[in-house]
Amino acid sequence: MSSFLATHTRTHSCGQLRASDAGKRVVVTGWVQSYRDHGGCVFIDLRDRDGVLQLVFDPEFHTGVIEVASNLRSEWCIGVTGEVRSRGAKHNDRMRTGDVEVWVDSIEVFSKAETPPFQIEDDTETNDQLRLKYRYLDLRRPKMQRNIMLRSKITKTTREYLGQNGFLEIETPFMVKYTPGGARNFLVPSRLNPGSFYALAESPQIFKQLLMVAGYERYFQIVRCFRDEDLRLDRQPEFTQIDLELSFVNEAILQGIMEGLISSLWKEVLGFEVTLPLRRMTYAEAMDKYGVDKPDLRLDLTLCEVTEQAKGSGFRVFESVVASGGIVKCLRVPANEKLTRKVLDGLQEFAKPYGVQGVAYARVGEGGAWTGIKGFSDAAREAVNTHAGAGPGDTLLFVANTYKIANTCMGAVRLHIGDKLDLIRKGEWQFMWLVDPPLFEVDEATKEVAASHHPFTSPREEDEHLLETEPGKVLARAYDLVLNGVEVGGGSIRIHRSDLQGRIFTALGISDEDRAQKFGFLLEAFKYGPPPHGGIAFGLDRLAMLMAGAESLRDVIAFPKTQKGSDLMTECPTPVSKKQLEELFIQLRPDLPVR
Ligand code: AMO
Repeated sequence: MSSFLATHTRTHSCGQLRASDAGKRVVVTGWVQSYRDHGGCVFIDLRDRDGVLQLVFDPEFHTGVIEVASNLRSEWCIGVTGEVRSRGAKHNDRMRTGDVEVWVDSIEVFSKAETPPFQIEDDTETNDQLRLKYRYLDLRRPKMQRNIMLRSKITKTTREYLGQNGFLEIETPFMVKYTPGGARNFLVPSRLNPGSFYALAESPQIFKQLLMVAGYERYFQIVRCFRDEDLRLDRQPEFTQIDLELSFVNEAILQGIMEGLISSLWKEVLGFEVTLPLRRMTYAEAMDKYGVDKPDLRLDLTLCEVTEQAKGSGFRVFESVVASGGIVKCLRVPANEKLTRKVLDGLQEFAKPYGVQGVAYARVGEGGAWTGIKGFSDAAREAVNTHAGAGPGDTLLFVANTYKIANTCMGAVRLHIGDKLDLIRKGEWQFMWLVDPPLFEVDEATKEVAASHHPFTSPREEDEHLLETEPGKVLARAYDLVLNGVEVGGGSIRIHRSDLQGRIFTALGISDEDRAQKFGFLLEAFKYGPPPHGGIAFGLDRLAMLMAGAESLRDVIAFPKTQKGSDLMTECPTPVSKKQLEELFIQLRPDLPVR
């Protein structure tokens, strides 16, 4: 132990001292943020996770410290003792502790630091690669420390709220049986069972349902999940869920309890009162008005479908799409001087990756006349104007394509235009429950049926009769929580009747043999009095990202992975030795590296 810490205990954090503390003797510790030498008198900004404090080393106040002080450099880790003094008229309004400074009478250098590869400050100009390689330095930046502390407050508040509401925190295994469907799993070879593999759990789904069978009634876990997916700004290969399951509930009860959680999180962490109940929107309405199942309601622009109106319009491009079963989707943009020709031209490039030729547009003039699109009959044009509510000065944007492409593309165009025209209201919290989504995704070409959520999701009772005949029309007792256009949570009421589960497996084309082999243990468990139950999982990283106002999940995860799933700090993943592979009975392709 350093001699300093043997005789001194820290009395305050760096962000803590105020004018009223003047005159106190204090012990503070931290890192040197900056140093200035003013003609023999040294000023240091000392930083810890709580804030920044000015230290003064004045040879006239204390002779012993100036020599050490004049050698200090950025990011050295030090401890000092001294006296708090008012800065009087020289106070610094930009610092929380700006009314005071500490006049130092003893100092200990705990450790020196090399010049860091980037400045440890909020607006540091450095690339992401370097930030990730020196993550521990990046994590020293005040902004990152605020984010990580905010995240900790989220988990603390979550545990408190759920504890008060009768939830038990129960752990479930990470190394689990591989079951098909859902996200791609990471596999872990079993040394003790040659040729066999565990999967890393993509979520605790089956286990939390089994805990309901086992009678635990209300379960939660703040749990790491693993998915081998293509990564994006809002996706990580290992991420954390606030995972819950409840027995003897319906959607309304479950959503009410979750709204209580959201409300206490926003209150405790951000000091914001969320108005309850949260809005509910059906999947059908979301697709119709916003083209996506996670609408950003901070933007008032809405889409509409003008397939009927375009059908006999005489405009060939639209007519041929409609004739082949496609749709025409329209976005009305009210008169806005920022919607320039340049923005409209840029839109074409923006839209192409969605699989469309371009975005057609018409400027609406006096009497509803259009410029931009030619060949539309007057009657059809008027019908479109009326349906879209368009008047002089407005611009209409169109995409004609398959249902899926037209919606996805126009959903994105809506956000793109909202962004370019500054129409997205920053600072708002727009929550909504998305309800009544389809139970299955039916492939347009092959007619293959896949579960939209997972195969244990209950269909709506009134739709059960369609399971065998029109599976695409069956709606699910599932719900997502959407916040500002991000899916922050999703769940469902589960199936607890084995006959119904059997019909779902049949609709999904899972044979008797497969279901016994893959889900046998679950089906067996459901023979022993399963309670009606349902649950949900929130993406903790996504909640933290939005609450922190961060742009990427990486800014709220202490040690995240890159887009390619690697950790640049520890340089993982790596090849392993031939011997290790042999122990696992794994043979690599000869061109791949071994260590
Ligand atoms: P789901 O797959 O919808 O549901 O996941 C729940 C929530 O987890 C978050 N999420 C992610 N966050 C970061 N990176 C990822 N790769 C990632 N994937 C998902 C999202 C999502 O809403 N077992 C079910 C829940 C249930 O039915 O109870 C499940 O895992 O915010």
